[in-house]
Amino acid sequence: MAKGKPVVVVTRQLPREVETRMMELFEARLNAPDNRMSAQQIIDACDGADVLVPTVTDRIDADLINNLPDSVELIANFGVGVNHIDLEAATAQKIVVTNTPGVLTDDTADMTACLLLAAPRRLVEGERLIRSGKWDGWAPTFMIGHRISGKRLGIIGMGRIGQAVARRVKGFGMTVHYHNRRRLHEEVERDLEATYWEDLDQMLAHMDFISINCPHTKETHHLLNANRLALLKPHAFVVNTARGEIIDEAAMAQMLANGEIAGAGLDVYEREPEIEPALLDLDNVVLAPHLGSATHEGRIAMGEKVIVNIKSFVDDHRPPDRVYEV
Ligand code: DGY
Repeated sequence: MAKGKPVVVVTRQLPREVETRMMELFEARLNAPDNRMSAQQIIDACDGADVLVPTVTDRIDADLINNLPDSVELIANFGVGVNHIDLEAATAQKIVVTNTPGVLTDDTADMTACLLLAAPRRLVEGERLIRSGKWDGWAPTFMIGHRISGKRLGIIGMGRIGQAVARRVKGFGMTVHYHNRRRLHEEVERDLEATYWEDLDQMLAHMDFISINCPHTKETHHLLNANRLALLKPHAFVVNTARGEIIDEAAMAQMLANGEIAGAGLDVYEREPEIEPALLDLDNVVLAPHLGSATHEGRIAMGEKVIVNIKSFVDDHRPPDRVYEV
């Protein structure tokens, strides 16, 4: 890496505090208009740059990586999920990749809790009714939803965010079940009062609610495909704050429309910002625009992580959040 301030290309506008600090520490090439950059625009912007800072809205695929100037040695992602970055291609080009784990755990778990409550209690549907001016008052049989207390929640992916969800829903009186690549340590399991299901299909068939909290990888792509969704009970709700690609969205929309699944709370989609059209017509689905980490505190903390990763890398230390190919 050349001497002097490292040249850092940032693909999207970041919080003011983060950009200010970046401009002090680096020769930062910012994106003030916040337009989505094409692959070619990213490659061009990286001319003579040392570091690329993308986000989930960029597709950092093999083609883009292979065409980056040789000067780029680090991709410091603003976000925890790295499914939009071809890690294999980055490794082949000897480009280090980092992300921002830990700092958005609570915010994402809070959003999961919001959706776990909003979908069965018909909160957004009710809000729409009020705004339409058509509400004519309380009635014993009006807009009846489903209780969540006493129900079983199956968490798919029991990492940091999954565990934070488990802690929250204990407070709602739900029982916690989970499926994960690895079983949790006995003490953690006991603390969370969580029941492990080695067999995902078995768990799906026994739950009232499902929360997806695993990363999107080759293994988890369409993990909830039509066959798996068909295992859910008709009164079950699905909440997804992880990645849209983990669910076969078209299959789920169809089942929600047919009443084969009771409802869903979604913060992420297969082809963001496009939404499966069938979902838009359904009253039993709460749709949020990828807001999991969208708090002032979370986004600033994510930016600070990006800065620490870049600083450590340029100072020849191991960046704390290096992502390894799995
Ligand atoms: C992430 O960090 O991966 C989120 O999805 C974007 O905030």
